[in-house]
Amino acid sequence: MSKNIVVAIDGYSSCGKSTLAKALARKLHFIYVDSGAMYRAVTLYFLRNNINLDDHLQIEQALKNIHLNFHARDYETHIILNDEEVSEEIRQMPVSEKVSAVSALHEVRVEMVKQQQRMGKSSNIVMDGRDIGTAVFPHAQLKIFMTADPKIRAERRYKELLPKNPDITLEEVFENLAHRDYQDTTRKESPLVRADDAIVLDNTKLTPDQQLQFVLDKISPFLEQSH
Ligand code: DC
Repeated sequence: MSKNIVVAIDGYSSCGKSTLAKALARKLHFIYVDSGAMYRAVTLYFLRNNINLDDHLQIEQALKNIHLNFHARDYETHIILNDEEVSEEIRQMPVSEKVSAVSALHEVRVEMVKQQQRMGKSSNIVMDGRDIGTAVFPHAQLKIFMTADPKIRAERRYKELLPKNPDITLEEVFENLAHRDYQDTTRKESPLVRADDAIVLDNTKLTPDQQLQFVLDKISPFLEQSH
């Protein structure tokens, strides 16, 4: 019986995880799951419904009312929050500013990890996030830990955000990333750490094609085994 293959891609915010994960999934015909989008959609729901992050009962109740789905289309993230596509809204600053606090909540992580593990049960998948190789799929066949120079990361993110946020400054984006790095790596619940068996990929000076080739080389032994 062939076992499904899981590729876990973890790393800091805006260091190109999703670009690589999408390209890899497209190339291998795997399912791509953007786990950050799930935390972002939960954050959007919490913002819209004024959920108090200190009120555990309110959080548990809110989680019961949140239904997340992905629409698989062209390997882009189309995330549906209770029948509404929120893929664009979850990328805006209000969500970006709150998502670290929401994703640090125990109840939120337990629920998201459960849903993510379900997705990896029966399909070949590429999932990107912060704890995929450590908490979600500790037995993933391939784990990549991505890093890049913080200045380059801020510039990349700034360019992405600018068309829809003409007032945004590079400093603001840099600050937001630094703040998220701090929160993601120092939180109590599943902080961002490199799994012992993860391969580090610093993409500061690598093109998307070079990054893809790097990962394809690492995954090819597993593809041969699964045939
Ligand atoms: O990858 P991203 O920037 O869209 O993720 C948004 C936030 O969600 C990020 O600040 C940390 C959190 N996150 C997490 O805690 N665990 C994951 N597996 C993915 C994202």
